[in-house]
Amino acid sequence: MTKTIYILNGPNLNLLGKRQPEIYGHETLEDVERMARDALAGGFDCRMMQSNWEGQIVDWIHEAREEACGIVINPGALTHTSVAVLDALNAFEGPVIEVHISNVHKRETFRHHSYVSLRADGVIAGLGLEGYAAAVRRVCSLAG
Ligand code: DQA
Repeated sequence: MTKTIYILNGPNLNLLGKRQPEIYGHETLEDVERMARDALAGGFDCRMMQSNWEGQIVDWIHEAREEACGIVINPGALTHTSVAVLDALNAFEGPVIEVHISNVHKRETFRHHSYVSLRADGVIAGLGLEGYAAAVRRVCSLAG
């Protein structure tokens, strides 16, 4: 049976390709999905989702408990603020990989702390969109 990986994207990532391209590049979320699909191992599929709403991200993580074998998540700014996203991830049993397009450690100090990292099995920052492909490969090997 095919195993599904949820790829969750938080606030403002719908603007990928238009927003601050000097930091996030010119490629879009559609490009992210294409790269993520290319990285899937046999027997795996993915569902790409984005919301600007914290509660929606929490609901998708709850849904993942039944529907997904692993989660790749770029929580956007919720990374640095959301205990609710952390709590939801703590209720998910499969592998979780946190992705940031930019190197958050090279940026403002408020971006250096991540609630999500307290749960994530791996953290990728600063690899651009390639970070999503690396995260998908890692979930496939952990959930395979
Ligand atoms: C981000 C980094 C966050 O600090 C920021 O709020 C984002 C995107 C990244 O992908 O580099 O929205 O998660």
